[in-house]
Amino acid sequence: MYEHDVIVVGAGGAGLRAAIAAHEEGADVALVTKLHPVRSHTGAAEGGINAALREGDDWELHAYDTMKGSDYLGDAPAIDTFAQDAPEEVIQIEHWGMPFSREEDGGVSQRPFGGMSFPRTTYAGAETGHHLLHTMYEQVVKRGIEVYDEWYVTNLAVTDHDDPENRQCHGAVAYEIATGTVEGFWARNGVILATGGLGQAFDHTTNAVANTGDGCAMAYRAGVPMEDMEMIQFHPTTLPSTGVLISEGVRGEGGILYNDEGERFMFEQGYANNDGELASRDVVSRAELTEVNEGRGIEDEYVDLDMRHLGEERILDRLENILHLAEDFEGVDGLDEPMPVKPGQHYAMGGVETDENGETCIDGLYAAGETACVSLHGANRLGGNALPELLVFGARAGHHAAGKDMKTAEIQTGPSARSEPGDVAPPIEPGAVDTGSDDVAADGGERSSSDLRTDGAMVEPKETLEHAVQQERTRVETLLEDDGINHAEVRSNVQQTMTENVNVFREEAGLHQALHDLRQARERYENVAVSDPSRTYNTDLIHTIETRNVLDVAEAITLGALAREEFRGAHWRAEFQQRRDQEWIKHTMLAWNDGDPELYYKPVLLESEHKEYEPKERSY
Ligand code: FUM
Repeated sequence: MYEHDVIVVGAGGAGLRAAIAAHEEGADVALVTKLHPVRSHTGAAEGGINAALREGDDWELHAYDTMKGSDYLGDAPAIDTFAQDAPEEVIQIEHWGMPFSREEDGGVSQRPFGGMSFPRTTYAGAETGHHLLHTMYEQVVKRGIEVYDEWYVTNLAVTDHDDPENRQCHGAVAYEIATGTVEGFWARNGVILATGGLGQAFDHTTNAVANTGDGCAMAYRAGVPMEDMEMIQFHPTTLPSTGVLISEGVRGEGGILYNDEGERFMFEQGYANNDGELASRDVVSRAELTEVNEGRGIEDEYVDLDMRHLGEERILDRLENILHLAEDFEGVDGLDEPMPVKPGQHYAMGGVETDENGETCIDGLYAAGETACVSLHGANRLGGNALPELLVFGARAGHHAAGKDMKTAEIQTGPSARSEPGDVAPPIEPGAVDTGSDDVAADGGERSSSDLRTDGAMVEPKETLEHAVQQERTRVETLLEDDGINHAEVRSNVQQTMTENVNVFREEAGLHQALHDLRQARERYENVAVSDPSRTYNTDLIHTIETRNVLDVAEAITLGALAREEFRGAHWRAEFQQRRDQEWIKHTMLAWNDGDPELYYKPVLLESEHKEYEPKERSY
């Protein structure tokens, strides 16, 4: 068993920032990560990082744009904290050596991005995330922070009181990918989940294969509610054949979208008469798909993104990476021809419910970055707000977990924050498949551990972790020894139904179909096995374990989408084509409830200690 004060799970931007912050407080901190830190998906972020840094801009304007972008589903205390802390965080990484693109006078460059009333997106070419990741990893190395890389955290050690708010997290269980060893990581102070996104629930995504919603699914099964899971962002400019991201920075620099008839449709079809291509992402993605659905798409599939008029010098200076991506993945030379683009899954606005300090309702368990829902982005995230989010809330979680005395959070978490019960009627029984088996069922309906013995006596916290380790060892053995189907069949069923039925445009029948398909996939998952018996770099085993997480998050997304009977931000419903503020300024919350998901609602906080936001019609 390894032992540290703070265990950070995941070493992308949020995890690295959390680890540095905990270390600044004097904590013995370790990063436990499925990937080597610089292979994390933060490295794929291209366009930039928002912060109010210049004269003429201020944090309140940034906060206002973020609230409007969220379609009034963001919580004001989270948004205000974010916009206030972001400038300091960006200046901090600049001082750590982040190679920002610069103006003639040496100041950092800022470009316009969608939904922003000011050009406040700092950037490093079109490889901002890559440089951010390397800059922070250098700081981790410099500080001597311990990194357990290629250790896949598969479960949490959480006590098993009936009420999740009385549970406590004591550590995590991880599988060493190089050797097949399963070990416990004891956390004296806390565990911070920073495992990134869940894009592998869809088959056309900008996300890496490693983005399987691990942190969300583990926290969910341990008793932390998932918040606003239906709010999935579809980025308007992904390459059709692969889902590879073509940065919003192209449109920020002046790139133009055209349909098959050569129309600049964002204006000519009236989708966004003021901001055109720089409307928020939900608006642009719907516009593109409407063009395709109404017969004005190219090859019935995509639209064109043209940046040729920007000129070679500017493109090479600010967007060189885009040229390589278009050439390598689509065979298109962006200097000579437009690039084909279509919407693709990009980001989860929802996730593990936390407060502004990254705390969940389970004592000692935190989440930050895309894994978390604080809720900053509400129903739609603005481009360039993900990187400052992971700095601001990664840092806050790290400081808090390491024991820093911080202001009491305004956001309430856990089932006691509920305002009303949910009433969704799914066509099937969602949740874990009841196999009648013990707590090592592949489906993961188990809770990780128990703090009561069968004789009713209390179990020592370390036994909680040891028990969780033993469960995980047994599960790995079972997967390796049994015969069964390959996980890939199950995963591709999930991805296909999610992309077909839980996409930009959603209908009740499609959502029902997705739930049916997910139920079948869950039942099939009960029979998965790993044919490769090796303990060394057994990626088939890793993917099999991940697929359980993909299933749980896919179902949560679909249940949330069925529950929310309105059109808000990224969530469009054929049956409810209006935003319904009277009934729906509330968060959809889903509690795993020991494998029997329970829906409830929690109010959106439109008021912070600084100001009150009045919902307005959102137009760009
Ligand atoms: O388009 C982009 O460069 C992506 C940025 C983001 O998601 O924030």
